[in-house]
Parts: sequence; C-alpha cells; structure tokens
Amino acid sequence: MNNYVKIFDTTLRDGEQSPGATMTSAEKLEVAHNLARLGVDIIEAGFPAASPDDLEAVRRIALEIGNPPTGSPDAKVPVIAGLARANKADIDKAWEAVQGAKKPRIHTFLATSAIHMKHKLKMDPEEVVQRVSEMVAYAKTLCMDVEFSPEDAGRSDPEFLYVVLGEAIKSGATTLNIPDTVGYTTPDEFYKLIDGIIKHTPGMHEGITVSVHCHDDLGLATANTLAGIQAGARQAEVTINGIGERAGNTSLEEVVMALKTRHPVFQLETGIETQQISRISKLVSNYTGMVVQPNKAIVGANAFAHEAGIHQDGMLKHQTTYEIMRPEDVGVNQTKLVLGKHSGRHALRNRLAEMGHSLDEVELDKAFARFKELADRKKVITDLDLEAVIADEFYKPRDVYLLNGMQVTSGTMGMPTATVRLRGPDGIIHTVAAIGTGPVDATYKAIDQIVNVPCTLLEFNIHAITEGIDALGEVTVRIQSESSSTTMDPQSEVEYVRIYGGHGADTDIIVASAKAYINALNKLIIAQTEGTEKVQNDFGVMLG
Ligand code: KIV
Ligand code: ZN
Repeated sequence: MNNYVKIFDTTLRDGEQSPGATMTSAEKLEVAHNLARLGVDIIEAGFPAASPDDLEAVRRIALEIGNPPTGSPDAKVPVIAGLARANKADIDKAWEAVQGAKKPRIHTFLATSAIHMKHKLKMDPEEVVQRVSEMVAYAKTLCMDVEFSPEDAGRSDPEFLYVVLGEAIKSGATTLNIPDTVGYTTPDEFYKLIDGIIKHTPGMHEGITVSVHCHDDLGLATANTLAGIQAGARQAEVTINGIGERAGNTSLEEVVMALKTRHPVFQLETGIETQQISRISKLVSNYTGMVVQPNKAIVGANAFAHEAGIHQDGMLKHQTTYEIMRPEDVGVNQTKLVLGKHSGRHALRNRLAEMGHSLDEVELDKAFARFKELADRKKVITDLDLEAVIADEFYKPRDVYLLNGMQVTSGTMGMPTATVRLRGPDGIIHTVAAIGTGPVDATYKAIDQIVNVPCTLLEFNIHAITEGIDALGEVTVRIQSESSSTTMDPQSEVEYVRIYGGHGADTDIIVASAKAYINALNKLIIAQTEGTEKVQNDFGVMLG
C-alpha cells in the first residue's frame, strides 16, 4: 500500500455551505488560491447545482486555480471537484463547472443507511444500488475522475455498502469516499468499517482510492479520520479550522500535523506545506466571521502559549519539554519583532513576501500607507499586526459602503453618541449621528440609518492581536438579513437563511467594530443586489 495520503479540502463546499460560513465569490477564489499554495491535492470548490452563483464560483476556481500559470505548464495544480447529488441535472451542472480545470472531478453521492433510504430518499435498497450504478456511469461519460460517496456510511449496513461500492467501481468510480455524515462512529468502529470495505468490496484494486470524510458531532472526527487512514484509506476529506455542518468536519490542520508529528507511528506523507497553516486558518476565519476557539488544536491563539509557571520554566530549559510541535512549523511567529516606524517600503515588501503575500505595486502602496499609519500609533509592528492589516485591506468584499470618518463620545457623563461618515455606492458622503447604549451600539445605529438594510447582529467578537496597550484590536461580526433569503443544503435538501461574517482591525476598537460591521453589510448588499441569494431547488423553481 502506498504511503501518501491525499488531502481533499472541502472548506469551500461542506465548510462554506454550513449555515453561517458564507463567503463571496472573490473570497472563495482567494481561499482556493491559498489552498493550492498550501499543497492540497483536491479542492472541492462547491456544489454547483445549489445556485447559478455557486456554479460560477466553481467554474472560476476550476479555470484560475485548476490550471498552471502561463509560462509554467508543468506546475503542480490541484484536482478541482464539484459535488452533485445522484441525478443527471446535478451531475451536468457539476461537469459544466469543473470541466475547465486541468484535472476535473465529479463527486456524486447517495445515502445508503436504512434511516436515510426510508425517510429521506424513500427508496428501496435495490433502487439505491441501481441509481448509484446509473449515475456513476453517467458521470463517467463526462469526466474520467469520478468519486462516489455513500452518504451516512457510518450508520449503513457494511454488507450493503460492499454491494453499493462494488457497483460504483463497476460503473467507473475511482475514489470511494466513506462519510460518517452525522459523526456517530467511534475510531474502533470506523477502523473496522474501512478495513472491511477494503477487504470485501467486489472489484477493489490498487487503482481505487478509499477516502474518509468525518463529522465532529462527538468530537471524534480527527480520531476517526486517523483510524480510517490506519485501516488503509489514502484520502482524507477535511476543512480549514474544521468548519462544516453542525459541529464541523475533520480539521485539515489536526490530521496533517498528527501525521507529521507522529510520523514514526503512521509512516505516511502528505503534500502539505505546513508553514502555511496558520495564515490560511486566519484567512478562513476572517472571511467567514467564524472565530477560532483559543484552545483549538494547532491554530487556536493559545495552542503554543505557555502560561503556567512550571511550563514556562521547562520551556526555558528546553523547548521540547512541553512542545511537541514547533510553532514555526505551522507558520506561527508569535512575537517576532519585524518592523518599526523607520522601516521602508522595501523592508515591508520583503517581510510580506516571507509571510507568503506577494503584492503588486498598487497593493503594496496601500499596505505601506496602512503600515505607516499603524507605525505612528504603535512602536513595534509584528507579523500578527501585518496579517491583520493585510486581512483588513485586501481580504474584504467590494466596498459598497466605505468608512470615511467617525467620532464617538462615551463614558459615564452623557449619552454614548457616534457620528459616522460613509461613502456610499453613488460616491456620495453620508453623515449621521446616533445615540446608543454604548459606543459600538451608537456606531451601528448610525451605520444602519445610512445603509438601511434590515439585519440582525448575531455575534460580535473582539480581541487584541498582540500584547500591550497599543495593540491592534480585531473585531469579527456575523449578521443575518431580516428578509428571508435562503440557500440550499445539499445533504438535507432544505433551505436555510444565509449568514454573513465581517472582519475589521484597528488600534481603535470602535473603528475596528465599525469596519467589521460595514464589511459584513457590504457582503449582504452584494448578495442581494446580484441576486446570488436566490437558489434553485430540485424542481427547478427559484427560491429566495
Ligand atoms: O457528510 C457527508 O455525507 C457529505 C457527503 C456529501 C460526502 O458531505
Ligand atoms: Zn460532510
């Protein structure tokens, strides 16, 4: 058996399509670009049948990320996969979306557990086998690379799975992905399931890749994925920060770092450039507005922090006393002092390039202006500050509304009041003053009066990026439109209301709060004006 585990990233599909992780098309493209740089083998770019916008986003990723740059025809590019339910309309849309990639893949799925067949599909097991056989064969007429997933495999009868998977192989599938859709199995059970599939599926041979796809409902996704790999799976389906349906998917960083850190146990390799992990984790968090919990393995803010005196003492004597991985291996350069007030444009360009950001001249001008502004307020600029500035300046949606200026009064002596000036889409400057329960509330009320898009603020998070009183404050928010716009969940075929995340960073936390809110509102407005919230259901009727 080969010792290479393919990393199949589904951040842009299972991750993005979970309620609350909506990204704009531009953001999805940027994430895909960074996934390719991270070295993932397969990018599942979306579910093209969900909406015309989803199809277009996958198509652009297939063309732009799924092909080598001009002049480097031999550069490694990832496979670009599109998800499709097991019906011709979905498969056609998936093919339309991915066919522009050098290495396209159609990923089709159908549920195989008794519960799903009876209550959701209302199909007999025989009908399921028949449908899998026909739809995998149909996908194969379009695309050489076909993946099949028996949804809810974790709760399916293994004997039935062998039959379904055997049919999928016969019809041309070359990857068999085994999802624990509801995160139900234990590592021991999942090991046995994968082991049984490899040993008993008719027609199983070296050219077939067995894949694992686990959800984290019981906090066992990483353990189950590793158990599946130990049983012989050679593809792991994962997401950045573990985002995904309900409790999420297996997180890429945990599986990759477990394989690397415990190499003597697994003796397996991946193609992941682990130093990129921290950066892409922040990118996904900023775009989705989904904050990474501080104690999250590998990418949490505290993952490499040693507070307790006894730990600090040990660390000073020797790093390996309490650290099983080096922070730099995942790209965390915690308090590296990089630049100061007198650093020039050239130094900034070099440092950003070392951090993996290659900016063109116009972008560099913008970054340099932000850097100088920050250096006037903050003595020492660290990598973390630079990441925040880059995220704030470049990883944001098109500016429908742009903060042009603001002033806030608050305290115990009067009513918190905010005066906010925004440049609108028509180029006109709007100025409004509002009072609120506190400075952020007053600011958001003033913004609401200008923007006039009814929405609910679901979440507001604030934290300091580095230590010290002059630290940059970073704010993430999540908002939901009050008009009932929906999108579709491919697994359950139900519609849900989209949630938009926003991010802002500034040494003034009220300014950071304003930026984050405007950022999220801009996403919502773009989706509403471009009609990208409308989705097509099974019967071809427009919803939304
Ligand atoms: O969890 C699941 O079953 C899925 C399939 C569509 C692969 O995401
Ligand atoms: Zn899933």
